[in-house]
Amino acid sequence: MRSYIEELCHAKRHASALGAFNVFNGLSVRAVIAAATELDTPVILQTSVPTVRQFGVERLGAMLKLMTRDAPVHVMIHLDHCRDIELAKACVDAGWNSVMYDGSMLPLEENIANCRIIASYAHAKGVQVEGELGHIAGTEDSLSVAEADAADADLDASIRLVRESGIDSLAPAIGTVHGTYRGEPHINFPLVEQLAAALDIPLVIHGGTGLSEAVFARLIQNGAAKVNVATALRHAYFSGIQAYLSDNPGQEDPAALDQFLSSRIQAAAAEHMRIFQAAALP
Ligand code: 13P
Repeated sequence: MRSYIEELCHAKRHASALGAFNVFNGLSVRAVIAAATELDTPVILQTSVPTVRQFGVERLGAMLKLMTRDAPVHVMIHLDHCRDIELAKACVDAGWNSVMYDGSMLPLEENIANCRIIASYAHAKGVQVEGELGHIAGTEDSLSVAEADAADADLDASIRLVRESGIDSLAPAIGTVHGTYRGEPHINFPLVEQLAAALDIPLVIHGGTGLSEAVFARLIQNGAAKVNVATALRHAYFSGIQAYLSDNPGQEDPAALDQFLSSRIQAAAAEHMRIFQAAALP
């Protein structure tokens, strides 16, 4: 079986991308695996820091290991947006395949130094590291960046971060937004092209919810090998609860509600996976 980074590089070589979906409970884990099985594609389950803290590192690690063990497709576990070096190390120890160290709010030198610490710790245990540069607008769980503070990644700083820290993949701010887009997204495609030309590691796109098929295709053709999707699954979950309760007043069968929500999340994840595969070369 390919390692996490081999899966990303394989996707990049074939102009395709892996979906990385933020899961928040057992139901969402099962639903995303079902979507990946439906499309016969490898998939990344991401856990946010609040989710890790809610369950506890050891318990969540054990739960994910158990739930992914018999999956018919390759399921990998990634830690999303972690700013706590010790927590990232704990996830490495507890079996995550990849961790993101988000030093995007730090001065470049500090971001490089912290990424280097995590990369050397993680690599010794066969775990990959994603870094971030620039400021992505919007809200992702507990992290918020105001629109006025958003800033695209700097090309030279990106090259330095990758070369000097040893990270395996880079999430550059390119104009995407965490959460819901207000109006047309303004994606900095020239920056994506320059980054792809300058770096030989896979690029990661944050803020996957709400981008058009054409935008995804252009990003993927320019070296994006992992696309993060969180809001779309949360929306499927909450709009599903509302729809179910209004269509089934008085119904109190938890299994039936779970089944309904699970199919909504599966459909949302599968729709994204289909788009990520569509650009693929044979
Ligand atoms: P969305 O919530 O916009 O899908 O973004 C997800 C993400 O980038 C997680 O890191």
